[in-house]
Amino acid sequence: MTQSTAQTEYLTCLETPDSVQMCLRNVSKVFSSKPGLIASIFGSSKSDFVALENINLDIEHNTFVTIIGPSGCGKSTLLNIIAGLSFPSEGSIMMNKEPIRGPGPDRGMVFQNYALMPWMTVHENIRFAVETVFPKMSVKQQNRIVKEHLLLVGLEGAAKKHPHELSGGMRQRVGIARALAINPQVLLMDEPFGALDALTRGFLQDEIERIWEEHRKTVIMITHSIDEALLLSDKIVMMTKGPAAGIAQILDVPFPRPRNRLEVEKHPDYLPLKVAMEEHLFRETRAVEEARVNN
Ligand SMILES: Nc1ncnc2c1ncn2[C@@H]1O[C@H](COP(=O)(O)OP(=O)(O)OP(=O)(O)O)[C@@H](O)[C@H]1O
Ligand SMILES: [Mg+2]
Repeated sequence: MTQSTAQTEYLTCLETPDSVQMCLRNVSKVFSSKPGLIASIFGSSKSDFVALENINLDIEHNTFVTIIGPSGCGKSTLLNIIAGLSFPSEGSIMMNKEPIRGPGPDRGMVFQNYALMPWMTVHENIRFAVETVFPKMSVKQQNRIVKEHLLLVGLEGAAKKHPHELSGGMRQRVGIARALAINPQVLLMDEPFGALDALTRGFLQDEIERIWEEHRKTVIMITHSIDEALLLSDKIVMMTKGPAAGIAQILDVPFPRPRNRLEVEKHPDYLPLKVAMEEHLFRETRAVEEARVNN
């Protein structure tokens, strides 16, 4: 990428309306087969893997966005770039018109595998995050924030338990409480309910819908579930298969809020949206299989 191309991408993000919180311009990600320093001196090689190519996306403040696409297409890679845990090989990414240079307390992340500290209690796990982000806050105030967020996810009775004493659904609620306790502007979730049984998953989806109604933070969530995406999202980003995955289409989800799943399923746009998503996922997954057979 030339300097002037980079500058143009940077500028187009600066020129977006103030309602745009997250701006991605021509974001590509190449995983190099060579170690970092050698790759930076000798550039790309044939064995490098292009995971993402030319991702352009504007996410407005206070919207719930889900990302859906065939397995292995690059959803986590994209979310990690937004989290600042990984960097684009090309292109620009900005939040509130500032380049993302690494992880920050303005983005809270909920991981699929919970990522809780096993030696800490539920209270301590959340307090550790609060202390790290707000080191100057009094202990009393930190504890108050922890309690508030345990209440928010219905875990006030489990404060003294350790992660191994909790069910998967409870662990994930701790993860959500921890991410929200640092009061991030944007909540990032990578398949947060992927490891849960259907009933617990449905229950947590309802919880997330309730919490979102209360806080209205920007949420960017990866899911494999069409129904989950339709229940929760304002916008659904449908990705193409990899390598060189991109955005195929962005769907607007028009259902009124607050939502409940029965009302959502009765909405006249529900079935057409569901069918469009199923067709897209089926087409892309079949193409992945065909590519595998032909290689
Ligand atoms: N650090 C890495 N080095 C090399 N290749 C990687 C790396 N991380 C991811 N990839 C590759 O990039 C592609 C996208 O991976 P990613 O984990 O983002 O997919 P995904 O859409 O999240 O998949 P899933 O739905 O299975 O979680 C995959 O082909 C993966 O093998
Ligand atoms: Mg993933």
